[in-house]
Amino acid sequence: MRISLRVNGVERETDCWEGESLLFALREKLGLSGSKNACEQGECGSCSVLLDGTLVCACLVLAAQADGHEVTTVEALANGGDLHPVQQAFVDAGAVQCGFCTPGLVVATADLLSREPNPSDDEIREALSGNLCRCTGYAKIFDAVRLAASR
Ligand code: FES
Ligand code: FES
Repeated sequence: MRISLRVNGVERETDCWEGESLLFALREKLGLSGSKNACEQGECGSCSVLLDGTLVCACLVLAAQADGHEVTTVEALANGGDLHPVQQAFVDAGAVQCGFCTPGLVVATADLLSREPNPSDDEIREALSGNLCRCTGYAKIFDAVRLAASR
């Protein structure tokens, strides 16, 4: 089937089969490999994107469900060569190790701060509870979120 969707402000079209995930379509059909595929089961959050402004795991959304809708991926955050403030805060706080979880965490953090510019630790914990990181132990990630909020 053919789908058309608006991705990062650009109208895109692609073919997909009925069971294809939005994550697969983004990465393999539309050339947007920023969203990572770590579990493909909705467990890790590495594939986090916004669908019509709502944070979702792209691996759990069918590409067909995005037909006619708006998708925002991590690629939309940076402005040319300038990192998004959340991305810069992750770098500055040392919250990136292997980096596999980072795109999803950055998207989830940007989403949190757009709704709550000054989140409590509990709100940060809740907002990022769907994003797993195997490297950092989370302390630096919390530092990065607080740093981004303070800026
Ligand atoms: S790859 Fe989608 S939640 Fe892990
Ligand atoms: S930095 Fe490696 S999984 Fe988070």
